Amino acid sequence: MEEQLQAIQNNAEKQIAEVKAFHELNDLKSHYLGKKSILNEFMKKLSTLSKEERPEFGKKINDLKKKIEDLIDKATARIKENIYFQSLMSSEFDYTMPGRPINEGSLHPLSIVQNQLEDIFISMGFQVAEGYDVEDEFHNFDALNTPKDHPARNLADTFYIDNDVLLRTHTSTVQIRVMEKYKPPIKIISPGRCYRNDKFDITHSPVFHQIEGLVVDENINFQDLSFTMDTFLKKLFGPDIKFRFRPHYFPFTEPSAEIDITCFNCGGNGCPTCKCSGWIEIAGAGMVDPNVFDILGIDSEKYTGFAFGCGIDRITMLKFKIPDIRMLFENDIRFLRQF
Ligand code: PHE
Repeated sequence: MEEQLQAIQNNAEKQIAEVKAFHELNDLKSHYLGKKSILNEFMKKLSTLSKEERPEFGKKINDLKKKIEDLIDKATARIKENIYFQSLMSSEFDYTMPGRPINEGSLHPLSIVQNQLEDIFISMGFQVAEGYDVEDEFHNFDALNTPKDHPARNLADTFYIDNDVLLRTHTSTVQIRVMEKYKPPIKIISPGRCYRNDKFDITHSPVFHQIEGLVVDENINFQDLSFTMDTFLKKLFGPDIKFRFRPHYFPFTEPSAEIDITCFNCGGNGCPTCKCSGWIEIAGAGMVDPNVFDILGIDSEKYTGFAFGCGIDRITMLKFKIPDIRMLFENDIRFLRQF
């Protein structure tokens, strides 16, 4: 009996190894493992053996079944692979042709910096608010405590679309939009495009970008502004950056200041980037003027706040050493590819 089993195994190994198609393999499968297979016949014969011999031979038959199942599995995989390979070889498609390069776009440097600024402020607990590029005089000037005869309202500075409709000259409009809609506590930033009737030259563009910040709550003071700027600037430019407030005037903040950072090109010694002053102006800021709160119906006895507006184009130019602001708007592919 044992010899017979060995002979079956040898046969099975040989036949399965030679098989080339699934139907042949199926035939072999039923021949060796099916209901009427030789191995099943052996199983039936077990009853003719003695009680002691039965388990031993039962096990041998089962082991052989397992072996043949394994062989069939392996043959199945081999045939499948063969069929796949054949189909590749007979196809008219040339799989060895090199691929065509796909041109990938990349983020514009302004987007890179804007994303970075947003990430920094979000990590400091700010929410991102959005405003409109097309605005009215109320949100761009009146509500920001800007007198009717303020020079900024002049056609020479502001693009008017219609009598009361204009392209916003700063992102401070979003301060108003947010305070109209939400009650304090408020802690937002708002990046976006701004427009001024400026000549297009090395440092000016009629379209530019700002990021506005506004924090309103009880007991907000100038130190909170200072700390926020310090944290923000260090996260953006590294721990060695220093900044200063320079007294200034904005109609909607009191006191107001401009913020300068130490020139990281020369470290403050003076170079062409900072026009030899060692300082670079990057933002306007101040404490929200109580008049603004009054216009919007926010209790100016209870609440105080600070605001700032930071030039994104300037920061982008500094970060990437871009010498001319016009490069940011001309969309020269040779320039854009560098980012
Ligand atoms: N809106 C001012 C500007 O465009 C900047 C600013 C924002 C100043 C917020 C104070 C507070 O110059």
